[in-house]
Amino acid sequence: MTDRYAVFGHPIAHSLSPDIHAAFGRQEGIAVDYRAIDATPDGFLAALEAFAAEGGRGANVTLPHKEAAFALCTTRTARATRAGSVNTLLRKGDRWHGDTTDGAGLVRDLTDRHGQDLRGRRVLLLGAGGSARSVAPSLLDAGIRELVVVNRTPERADELIDAMGEPGRALSRYWDDLHDLGDFELIVNATSAGRDPSASFKLPLSLVNSMTTAVDLNYGDAAIAFLAWARAAECRNTVDGLGMLVEQAAESFQQWHEVRPDTDAVYAGLRGNHRLTGEE
Ligand code: ATR
Repeated sequence: MTDRYAVFGHPIAHSLSPDIHAAFGRQEGIAVDYRAIDATPDGFLAALEAFAAEGGRGANVTLPHKEAAFALCTTRTARATRAGSVNTLLRKGDRWHGDTTDGAGLVRDLTDRHGQDLRGRRVLLLGAGGSARSVAPSLLDAGIRELVVVNRTPERADELIDAMGEPGRALSRYWDDLHDLGDFELIVNATSAGRDPSASFKLPLSLVNSMTTAVDLNYGDAAIAFLAWARAAECRNTVDGLGMLVEQAAESFQQWHEVRPDTDAVYAGLRGNHRLTGEE
């Protein structure tokens, strides 16, 4: 039976992952059978089992299944355990092994593609949902000085901080107190607010210093509102989530096929179709 790969999500029709994995496969001379599978929350487990029975060897998991994927794994990497979230599944015998590659993808995009040195930086993480949880451990592991998590619902920020287990370096603060937090070299939007077409971000200018990079984990329309604020606030760099998407895919590809694809050409191809707002 041919090994199969897939991304599970709901909705999933517009996922770029099949194209990214196909491009990696062409580049590495590997025939990759990777498709998008739409599964509702109720149908996810059954769809995954059916996929395994048909030769499914690896899967990516996106919204809204990352926590469910975490729960169904028999074994997980340490970073997945810390994040409480799984976006990459690898079949081992009749069990699933889980990892999260989102955070590593973000860090690689920021450091390798955008030339950022994260060591010693103060980082503001907006949001405390699944996306925020999946990147927080990797930001800490990249050697940042401090991670401040701010969320509309403060209890979720507290939970995220508790899960990180680094009370000296990672702390939560109230959204209403954003103007008192000082300035940050990196501001990460991990909220889903920008997915609402009428969204706008009104964040204090005091968060920004002469080095600030603003990154939205979303790309396309969902990243417009936050990056518009970042540009108006004269952040030095603005980055959307497209590079992270390609890098997390490369991390998954490497685990399944034991070769690391070159991401630059694939990123450049996608960037041509997904201009960063404000670019010519
Ligand atoms: P995801 O998996 O994309 O992270 P999620 O787990 O539903 O999705 O989390 C969404 C995040 O965006 C949460 O941090 C949410 O804040 P709450 O925990 O208070 O719900 C945040 N969010 C959504 N809409 C928002 C808005 N309009 N303003 C600020 N934060 C918002």
